[in-house]
Amino acid sequence: MRTKNERNKRRTDEKIIDITSDVKWIGVLDYDIVTFDIVMETEFGTTYNSYFINATDRAIVEAAKESFSDVHINKIRQLTDLAEIKYIILDHTEPDHSGNTGKLLELAPQATVVGSGNAIRYLADIINKPFKSLVVKDGDTLSLGNKTLKFIAAPNLHWPDSMFTWLEEDRILFTCDMFGAHYCSENIFNDFSEEYFKAFKYYFDVILKPYSRFALKALEKIKHLDIRFICPGHGPVHHKNLERITELTKEYASEYVRITEKKQMKNILLAFVSAYGFTGKMAEIIAEGIKQVPGFNVQLLDIENISLGDLESEIVKADALLVGSPTINQNTLLPVYKLFALVNPLRDKGKPAGSFGSYGWSGEAPEIIANNLKSLKFKYFDDPAAAKFSPANDKAASLREYGKRFAEFVIEEYNKTKV
Ligand code: FEO
Repeated sequence: MRTKNERNKRRTDEKIIDITSDVKWIGVLDYDIVTFDIVMETEFGTTYNSYFINATDRAIVEAAKESFSDVHINKIRQLTDLAEIKYIILDHTEPDHSGNTGKLLELAPQATVVGSGNAIRYLADIINKPFKSLVVKDGDTLSLGNKTLKFIAAPNLHWPDSMFTWLEEDRILFTCDMFGAHYCSENIFNDFSEEYFKAFKYYFDVILKPYSRFALKALEKIKHLDIRFICPGHGPVHHKNLERITELTKEYASEYVRITEKKQMKNILLAFVSAYGFTGKMAEIIAEGIKQVPGFNVQLLDIENISLGDLESEIVKADALLVGSPTINQNTLLPVYKLFALVNPLRDKGKPAGSFGSYGWSGEAPEIIANNLKSLKFKYFDDPAAAKFSPANDKAASLREYGKRFAEFVIEEYNKTKV
């Protein structure tokens, strides 16, 4: 990973880049970001892409993160008088794309914000002041005089407000987070290095994968378009790599749907930290018990040093989760709290879960884990499994039994959803 100083050395951020003769990239480069949405590691930085359409009625597509407002607005000023902006199109209102809309509207109060119904509602609560708005639905068009925008509903990628905007004359599709990557490069057209594709996959895994069914629907909707450029909200613009990027998205989304819908085997993840090996040993014994029941893939995962992205991928794949931790100073440990932060109850709600841990004298960790798992909407199983120091002899037998009963509980829970 680059250090902050190395990133700062690479800062070059005043560029405006032609996508076509009438459409300009006016995004901002953020080399310094270390985590996105707090939990997503941004090893390669990111960009907040925004675009200017030089039509009879001038339009901006996507705004910028508030902390980069000055850079963004200065770029707009180089292209037009702000009083001449007629529309601000927001394909998604998460504040990395909408954060400076309030400031923009102070300078361009005549502008109408265009977005889905949800987007306009969310923006009202983000900027907390009245603004001119236009709600658009799937298939609606908006004339900019000599150019036409068509709106394509693409909800839940990854918020309910998301949509795509198609600029017909220039054959540009604006997609905000879809087809994006946290990848900062001044070569906004060309930097499709190995690092880029790593960032693209990681972005899909963390941001879009839970919404793979919606991604496939969106791909279906745009497949008839004769696209020249896909302009996402993060990372490079797609032109020469269009087919690769859409095919990769289809492959990742289809794989997720296939795994979650059709698999016969359920995945049970035993995620644990272990100070002296006792909790790790408990995980092994519980896994032996689980394996007495057919139909499970069991994965043991020491999470002490795992990357957040890899851990989130494992949580996504898991149909059921057991979390183990020793008790240190009457608490569980930081890697376990990181795991909680990666849980998405919209995605993980109802998955069977349990907790376990070795302890010396007090033993609160499994109970603390239990309470967190319940709050995060997992279906919690039974009492936590605890073992004083080393899990041998009778303790091992009871842990094996716990694993077996947990596996049976998972089957019961999934059978209920089939009724
Ligand atoms: Fe890049 Fe969901 O915002």
